[in-house]
Amino acid sequence: MAEFQEIWPITTARHVDGHLVIGGVSLPALAAEHGTPLYIFDLATIDMHVQRYRDSLRSYPAETRLVYAGKAFLCVGLLRHFAAQGLWLDVVSGGELAIAYAASFPAERLVFHGNNKTEEELRFARQRGIGIVVIDHQAEVELLGQLWADAPQPLSVMVRLNPGVETDTHAYRRTGQLDSKFGLPIATGAAAQTVAAVLDQPALRLVGYHVHLGSQLFTSEPYRVAIERLADFAQAMAAQHGVVPNVISPGGGIGVPAMPDDPSVDITAAVREIVRAVAENWKRRGLPLPALALEPGRSLIAQAGVALYRVGAIKQIPGVRCYVSVDGGMADNIRPALYGARYTATLANREGEGEQIVTIVGKYCESGDVLIRDLPLPPVKPGDLLAVPSTGAYCLAMASNYNGALRPAVVAVQDGAWVLWQRRETFDDILRRDPLA
Ligand code: LLP
Repeated sequence: MAEFQEIWPITTARHVDGHLVIGGVSLPALAAEHGTPLYIFDLATIDMHVQRYRDSLRSYPAETRLVYAGKAFLCVGLLRHFAAQGLWLDVVSGGELAIAYAASFPAERLVFHGNNKTEEELRFARQRGIGIVVIDHQAEVELLGQLWADAPQPLSVMVRLNPGVETDTHAYRRTGQLDSKFGLPIATGAAAQTVAAVLDQPALRLVGYHVHLGSQLFTSEPYRVAIERLADFAQAMAAQHGVVPNVISPGGGIGVPAMPDDPSVDITAAVREIVRAVAENWKRRGLPLPALALEPGRSLIAQAGVALYRVGAIKQIPGVRCYVSVDGGMADNIRPALYGARYTATLANREGEGEQIVTIVGKYCESGDVLIRDLPLPPVKPGDLLAVPSTGAYCLAMASNYNGALRPAVVAVQDGAWVLWQRRETFDDILRRDPLA
């Protein structure tokens, strides 16, 4: 259907009764069952993106790894799905590790990132198992060396390099430039010093190098530059210490559209460019090809997710604006307020006729709680359902209990059936941490 392209799950359709259907399941029926706000994930769309990455990685003539960046959205159901497909997982905290362990995600496929992992988090990883720890600052080398000193096997580590590459994305999402809290700058010599320190630590085994440039990137130029710097660095370390990386990762970051007129990235072409850049740069320097790990978050799951809200208060201010309030907002999707992210939406319970321009706002006590500004919609009534596409990544993951909000339920849909991935929070959940309640 022309109406539903790219930003909507691939199974999205409008039923003859006007109901929006995803994964063969009617959204009004889901709202009746689970309440709103509700987040719906379409498994067919997730699988399509996994397959796209897999197929395009096949052009790489050595081992490849698809590492899901769990910070985009994590729950046990999604992790079981990814574990069964052989994906790896990037985690950045003890909490994310706990979810991974609860999902029985194979520990050897866990990659632990973070610019300030605590000793407690690292002990947890040591105790329950971890595949790779990505070192992000020099002092981590000694700490890991101590924590793993009596381990039966050395700990596999990668060093996160800061390649000094600028990216064209929101300032909060840039990580590859020199002025960043992430990674060890190649330019200042910090990366080389850290590599030397790792090689001096018998409890650690250096397996490779990592960079992550930023998130929501729409061109491959930064990847090409970073891969070249990575290759130069690998060559310098090979000359200096005789070590060659077994694995390298140019991180994640490929952008996705949320509006019909947003730019989009052809994943197949983008991955092939990365593959070609790595193969060429390594060949040119006479280095053996490492395994190539890609670390996408958003581009695996954003399109699969749809947020469903119920319309409540409608406030028409003549000559100014029509405010349409929904029963969620910035507590489940902070992205418009934080990054100026733009979304679109459609009615999910009926088709409607005609058009008015409305502004969709949340129910929280901030004037910045605006989900969508100036959205053309058919005349809308209290009780209508509103579906917002491209909300699978970094919405729920950044959700809060602001104003005592209950975080929404999450369902996965496929072939006409739904599975509850996360139930809606309750007042008891909110009070559980308060011993005086
Ligand atoms: N690897 C590392 C080390 C990362 O820090 C990130 C994202 C990724 C991979 C995955 O990037 P992706 O493929 O999802 O772009 N909250 C922001 C996005 C922050 C991204 C943080 N790191 C947003 O809502 O736009």
